[in-house]
Amino acid sequence: STPLKIGVAGLGTVGAGVLALLERNAGIIATRAGRPITVCAVSARDRSRDRGLSLEGLRWYDDASQMATDDQIDVVVELIGGSAGPAKELVTAALGQGKAVVTANKAMLALHGTELARCAERNAATLAYEAAVAGGIPAIKALREGLAGNQLSRVTGILNGTCNYILTCMREQKREFADVLAEAQALGYAEADPTFDIDGVDAAHKMAILAALAFGQPVAFDAVHVEGIRDITATDILLAEELGYRIKLLGIAEQDDAGVTARVHPCMVPVSHPIAVVEGVDNAVVAEGDFVGRVVLEGRGAGAGPTASAVVADLIDIARGRHTPVWGTAVSELTPRQVLPMDRH
Ligand code: NDP
Ligand code: HSE
Repeated sequence: STPLKIGVAGLGTVGAGVLALLERNAGIIATRAGRPITVCAVSARDRSRDRGLSLEGLRWYDDASQMATDDQIDVVVELIGGSAGPAKELVTAALGQGKAVVTANKAMLALHGTELARCAERNAATLAYEAAVAGGIPAIKALREGLAGNQLSRVTGILNGTCNYILTCMREQKREFADVLAEAQALGYAEADPTFDIDGVDAAHKMAILAALAFGQPVAFDAVHVEGIRDITATDILLAEELGYRIKLLGIAEQDDAGVTARVHPCMVPVSHPIAVVEGVDNAVVAEGDFVGRVVLEGRGAGAGPTASAVVADLIDIARGRHTPVWGTAVSELTPRQVLPMDRH
């Protein structure tokens, strides 16, 4: 059968993880996808860097945007990062050519998702992004497909693995914030700019995406209230524990008659709540629907393996010809409702 041919732009933590997974699990992936998934081209900044990968036989692009016009590539996998610049240029160009795109880039989707959804629709192209939210947890699929029959009232989550790792290590091992952050960076969990993690911006990007999907409306990223964990001290964590709470950075999006709110901030979570015991790099997504009730999903939220797992799930869907609109419905069918600033709700 005809292979699905992909070009991978970005060979860092996630890109290298995707190549490793596609190689190691090639057999089961081909069976589940109905055909082999083959990497035929790659791009990164520094061609000479040793990535522990064999790139032999693969076309190399210094300029990733040229993948968009490579007739041999069926799917462009964007793993460069950044809300604008080379990542957005590549994705826009590839969709413009009618190519399917898989991305893990939550910053780009939170800020430009609806523009890119329109571009995908105009060109009858797929834009898939399971890896952009909650790492290896199939949160996008759950909201867009598994829970599609429900009216959702609230989506809550631990959406940043770096912050959860830091808070867990500070509590369990009594370590300093800066020391644990450096470790999270070394493990490949943190963003290129780790202030996005610790100041809550990365979780807010993911919350904007989940809110758009859950409530069927575009969510202006500026309307998401954002606070991070920079000012949480070891004493705060200890006192919370004595009172029977864990401090977690939560994302919360709610819909009621007044409109939608989305926010990210540290919360005191009672230890009896399932989210309180989600530790380390794990993330959790909790959705509340009118027929299903509460659904709790937990799993690794960052790092090469879990994120590659989500990217490859999207590739298998594309190989099978499964296509879902970016925000679950066509952009023209989205119902714009007011996204309320927190101080007015
Ligand atoms: P890295 O910084 O590890 O990798 C980025 C890669 O992009 C590098 O290989 C870099 O090249 C390459 N790159 C940079 N600029 C260009 C360019 N102009 N053209 C081509 N390649 C370029 O990032 P991650 O792998 O951690 O993250 C990638 C994306 O995945 C981001 O959007 C991130 O937010 C997202 N993500 C990351 C997760 C994680 O756990 N790390 C989890 C979920 C999503 P070089 O190696 O030569 O410098
Ligand atoms: N920096 C992100 C995190 C990567 O720590 O959650 C996963 O999106």
